[in-house]
Amino acid sequence: MSKKKVLVTGGAGFIGGNFVQYMVNKYPDYDVFNLDQLTYAGDLTKHSGIEKMANYHFVKADISDRDVIFSIFEKENFEYVIHFAAESHVDRSITDPGIFVQTNVLGTQILLDASRAVGVTKFVHVSTDEVYGELDFDPTTFFTEETPLKPNSPYSASKASSDLLVRAYHETYGLPVNITRCSNNYGPYHFPEKLIPLTISRVLNDQKVPVYGDGKNIRDWLHVIDHCAAIDLVMHEGVNGEVYNVGGHNERTNLEVVKTIIKTLGKSEELIEFVKDRLGHDKRYAIDPTKLENLGWKPTYNFETGIAQTIQWYLDNKEWWEQIISGDYQNYFEKQYSINK
Ligand code: NAD
Ligand code: TYD
Repeated sequence: MSKKKVLVTGGAGFIGGNFVQYMVNKYPDYDVFNLDQLTYAGDLTKHSGIEKMANYHFVKADISDRDVIFSIFEKENFEYVIHFAAESHVDRSITDPGIFVQTNVLGTQILLDASRAVGVTKFVHVSTDEVYGELDFDPTTFFTEETPLKPNSPYSASKASSDLLVRAYHETYGLPVNITRCSNNYGPYHFPEKLIPLTISRVLNDQKVPVYGDGKNIRDWLHVIDHCAAIDLVMHEGVNGEVYNVGGHNERTNLEVVKTIIKTLGKSEELIEFVKDRLGHDKRYAIDPTKLENLGWKPTYNFETGIAQTIQWYLDNKEWWEQIISGDYQNYFEKQYSINK
């Protein structure tokens, strides 16, 4: 019997990259195809441990290139499509929204068309809690799957738009889809432009850590491996057409996150530098994961165990993030934070 083919888009990025490794190791009977354009956020060195495995395959392609995507789908006839590829950084979406519409909206629509054409068994669209907008600081309020979509940033608006297309392809054409909406992830291979890896890498280099506004905004942090397990469950057990929120009740203010990292690394809080707030900065995100828990998911990390594991990983894998922050990233950082100051 031929192996089931699983297409993972964005598998050279942070979460997609962790998911590719998780799948290749867990399911030797699946052929896992990592399709990625290798933008600034994509990097294949993270896959040196699996690149020679017989069930791992890499295809360089842009999801917004219709002809290329159709020819790949027609050749490989994927059974599952797990769609991570996206422009994912809110700050970049504020300075340059256009590419977010092209990749996140148009790219998703092309993948949906191609999935329809070959009749996939499941299309899992990996989305974000940011499509719901923001919550206030009342700790008893949470995003559920019924919360109306009310995105505030160009990033979250592009993700909400793609969510609506995914829903429509289910309602109109009967495409077997699921949408997952996860809270903020952290863990190995997180690109150092996002808060947690940015803080770890800068604190290790005794550099200032920019905290937006008063640092009181709240995010709900989930270890990337728990997100991977959630997607594994949804791809195999999710009810077609359903949305599943993913989160583990790990709410922290940004300042708490930064201070935890500084303390763990034995450095001084004088490294904290309050900078101009992000435009349209969402106050608080917090997930109610009851629906996914009822499907059988349970996170394995809480914030304390997850952040300790993650800090240790960055200590053990300096060469990975040093290679990233020494390149183009440096130009981005200087531009971004001189604008913001
Ligand atoms: P990332 O930026 O680390 O990786 C994105 C990957 O997509 C990169 O490898 C990049 O090269 C690739 N890519 C970008 N444009 C492409 C294109 N046109 N064609 C093919 N590949 C392309 O992102 P991430 O943090 O791993 O997020 C993955 C997904 O999960 C995104 O859809 C994001 O919206 C969602 N998500 C992220 C978080 C989070 O905390 N990071 C939380 C919830 C949901
Ligand atoms: P980020 O990691 O960019 O994720 P998201 O915007 O998707 O939640 O940011 C997490 C929080 O940290 C957010 O409230 C913005 C804040 N932040 C800072 O205070 N300083 C920074 O340098 C960055 C990148 C983020």
